[in-house]
Amino acid sequence: MSEAVSTGASAPVWEEEIRTTDALQTQAAAERLGRRLAAGDLLLLTGELGAGKTTFTQGLGRGLGVRPGIISPTFVLVRIHPSLGQGPDLVHVDAYRLGSSGEIDDIDLENTMDTSVTVVEWGRGLVEHLSDSRLDITIIRPTGGGSAPVQGTAGLSFDYDDDPDEERVIRIAAYGPRWKDTRLS
Ligand SMILES: Nc1ncnc2c1ncn2[C@@H]1O[C@H](COP(=O)(O)OP(=O)(O)OP(=O)(O)O)[C@@H](O)[C@H]1O
Ligand SMILES: [Mg+2]
Repeated sequence: MSEAVSTGASAPVWEEEIRTTDALQTQAAAERLGRRLAAGDLLLLTGELGAGKTTFTQGLGRGLGVRPGIISPTFVLVRIHPSLGQGPDLVHVDAYRLGSSGEIDDIDLENTMDTSVTVVEWGRGLVEHLSDSRLDITIIRPTGGGSAPVQGTAGLSFDYDDDPDEERVIRIAAYGPRWKDTRLS
């Protein structure tokens, strides 16, 4: 990397907020976003355990038209979902267990960036250097948030089917030239 792209200091070029009341709505919102994405796009997903980052990514995958089967990749770190058509692949990363951007460099996302949409759960502070542009997406539980997650379940959270439908606030902050003239709504 020749130089670090400034991250925290620069302001987003736009921000949007979406509210959903269940997982299907979150997936539908993500699916609409997924249809707008292109190879090279970088998305960071932030939110507490169980906020809906993987649920959101499932919708993105549908919008992109990639091979289904998106699950929490906590132990695998990175999964590539190939396009079923002409569009970009989806590279889905879970950086929960990565401690430094050095470790993220080891999985060589640069290699797939140009042909894929790269989505990184827990990527804030680790992957901004991969592109001059990004969507920084935060999923918030306005109710029931703040309760401590059950210890030790982070990597085993493949199936939350028992979770009740709840409201989520999804904040999308766009950074960089890629998004300057492209709003979502
Ligand atoms: N409005 C909503 N949007 C998204 N998910 C919701 C909503 N309401 C309830 N849920 C449930 O919350 C859970 C979110 O789980 P998910 O694995 O997507 O979270 P995560 O942020 O990826 O967690 P982790 O940090 O463990 O990877 C799912 O079981 C989903 O059904
Ligand atoms: Mg997840």
